[in-house]
Amino acid sequence: MNIEPEQCKSAFYVFDVAELKGRIDYLRRILPKTVDLCYAIKANTFITGELIGTVDRFEVCSPGEAEICRLLNVPENQMVISGVYKTPQVMDNMVANTECNRIFTVESINQFQLLKGLSEKYKKNLKLLIRLTNGSQFGVNANEIEDIIANRESYKHLDIIGIQFFSGTQKTSLKKLKREVERLDKLLLTLKEKYGYTAKELEYGPGFPAAYFKEDSINEDELIGGFSQLLLNMTSKPKITLELGRSIAASCGKYYTHIVDKKCNKGENYLLVDGGMHHIVYFGQHMAMKQPILSVCGKETQPYSDIWNICGSLCSMNDIISKQVSLPPVEVGDIICFENTGAYCMTEGISLFLSRDIPAVYIKRNDGSLVCVRDPYETYLLNKPNYRKDI
Ligand SMILES: Cc1ncc(COP(=O)(O)O)c(C=O)c1O
Repeated sequence: MNIEPEQCKSAFYVFDVAELKGRIDYLRRILPKTVDLCYAIKANTFITGELIGTVDRFEVCSPGEAEICRLLNVPENQMVISGVYKTPQVMDNMVANTECNRIFTVESINQFQLLKGLSEKYKKNLKLLIRLTNGSQFGVNANEIEDIIANRESYKHLDIIGIQFFSGTQKTSLKKLKREVERLDKLLLTLKEKYGYTAKELEYGPGFPAAYFKEDSINEDELIGGFSQLLLNMTSKPKITLELGRSIAASCGKYYTHIVDKKCNKGENYLLVDGGMHHIVYFGQHMAMKQPILSVCGKETQPYSDIWNICGSLCSMNDIISKQVSLPPVEVGDIICFENTGAYCMTEGISLFLSRDIPAVYIKRNDGSLVCVRDPYETYLLNKPNYRKDI
């Protein structure tokens, strides 16, 4: 990629639309034709607009995410309003002010009662997916789902379209996915046999993994191909929508940070970069021991010469992005590129620590041009106390 002077000022992210669309094409090719895709926008809100018309739905987990979707004109009927807690007022507004052709997930019996009350108050028909718990704070028990289904005729304005399930991320075991699919199939069959209820839909987050570190070896054809076969083998044959975040977004993102200083302290080499752990977080990284997939821009083909600890610019000994990385000869001003950083890496950083800037974000268009969609953002104002006169 050609890095222009504008991007050379500070660290930044680039999300590549061609890579993103290629990723969706891959998923569509390997998954059964009948499976729809729902993008969990929490993985990366910046690519949401690029996915309109490319995925079938968007999973929206907070009022802030709903507002982002509204501003990007995500069609209402493609939104799944999810999340473990929404205030009664937020839910009231959502039901009152929309066409209500969105889908709502139900995370608890209280949420179910709230949505039931709102559907009656506004005489609006609501489509619901009931989330099955995996034994965490999310969702409800299978017997509670059975109770809701058994009484479904009495909920005049509620259309219970099916079940939602998500049990965790970075799953690499087909065996574990098999157990989940079998459990879901069993539940759907029970609902049919005991209550004559055929779920129209199963919305399922399988938590497909992304490769972040040099040691990661994920055979996606085997894992996702094997998973596709599991879905095809389901006896209950529901319409399936897969809720994916990481697996859609990770590969389109790159994080660029500039080397601003280098030194050797007590025999250890240190590179200081203008980014740091407030910009980039890796799922599964522990004490910077794993080596992210990275390169030095313009020096990709040069042989390794030295071993470095790459440290960010926070005044914290924890701000080490990676330890003991082999790199070609590097100089102050060189740019390090961290690959596969399109999902969560940016948003899970501790952005406000030390009042440093949040990185710029660029979208890379199909013609190779970069569009800046967020300037570097100064955070000191968010950390500055605003004394009110009455205190
Ligand atoms: C309900 C739900 N669905 C889907 C996802 C996306 O998960 P992943 O990024 O592993 O695909 C999450 C992530 O937390 C989630 O909570």
